[in-house]
Amino acid sequence: MRTTTIPTILLLLGVTMAPAPAFGQETFTYVGVAACGKCHKTEKIGNQLAIWEGTKHSKAFESLSTPVADSIALAKGLTTKAADSKECRECHTTGGPDSGVDAKEGVGCEACHNAGSGYRVLKIMKDKPTAVEKGLRTFADAAAIEAQCRTCHNERSPTAKEFDFKERWEKIKHLRPVE
Ligand code: HEC
Ligand code: HEC
Ligand code: HEC
Ligand code: HEC
Repeated sequence: MRTTTIPTILLLLGVTMAPAPAFGQETFTYVGVAACGKCHKTEKIGNQLAIWEGTKHSKAFESLSTPVADSIALAKGLTTKAADSKECRECHTTGGPDSGVDAKEGVGCEACHNAGSGYRVLKIMKDKPTAVEKGLRTFADAAAIEAQCRTCHNERSPTAKEFDFKERWEKIKHLRPVE
């Protein structure tokens, strides 16, 4: 081991430490739709909860619990039912199969807005820069929103259809009322 240099040691350490967050960076956990819905269900705020409930994102897990889904999984060579397969849960649940969120909620708020344990507190929600520091994902423009959609709406989906961003966004948008 005489030839082990300091950079090599650092590299080794870096590799071992890779899964841990960088210094000073907090990790956030998923809290689930119900926690966001506690506040996001009044008309005044725009009732994003009800809008979301009316979209197919809230049914994304139900779609995995059908004979059609199971035959898609089987055709892909999976040995478990679609609803039990990580390969399917990845895009049909909030944060993927290991997020800790009840898979039944489907594609919940945090699938797009990011894990909310840090920013869901009222004081922080009202202070956008801090909310962003605490994990809230922001979108610079329409292209950034579309990129987020395409993390799931892409050809890796076994039933992928063409994704027309403008048309799809119209179906799920949930803006605050203009004051
Ligand atoms: C304790 C109540 C409360 C909870 C819980 C809560 N929010 Fe909020 N949220 C608010 C309020 C109030 C605003 C509006 C802030 C404003 O207008 O300054 C807001 C704003 C937002 C915004 C817009 C941010 C911006 O300024 O562009 C997003 C996105 C959002 N919330 C998502 C979520 C998600 C996702 C969750 C669950 C992880 C959540 N919220 C949980 C109260 C809450
Ligand atoms: C890369 C993300 C992704 C993965 C992985 C994925 N899906 Fe999907 N799935 C989607 C999207 C996005 C849609 C919505 C399709 C659309 O509207 O374009 C969808 C829709 C569906 C539908 C409804 C079809 C319809 O349009 O009525 C079924 C059933 C389905 N997926 C089953 C599965 C199964 C089974 C697996 C695992 C073998 C799987 N999906 C894996 C993203 C994915
Ligand atoms: C499929 C992705 C997706 C899901 C699911 C989703 N959102 Fe959003 N949400 C967005 C995008 C994208 C925007 C627009 C951001 C922008 O314009 O900068 C947005 C905007 C918002 C805003 C700000 C509205 C405004 O006028 O400024 C709030 C509040 C919000 N979402 C809350 C929620 C809540 C609560 C849920 C769950 C009940 C939810 N969202 C589910 C993607 C999503
Ligand atoms: C975490 C993965 C994921 C993300 C991110 C995501 N979607 Fe989806 N989306 C799905 C799945 C899965 C379905 C299929 C739900 C079902 O029918 O079971 C779907 C279905 C839809 C549908 C219903 C199909 C239709 O055309 O009526 C619309 C609309 C849609 N998504 C729009 C969007 C938009 C716009 C964005 C980005 C702001 C987005 N999605 C981001 C996974 C995702």
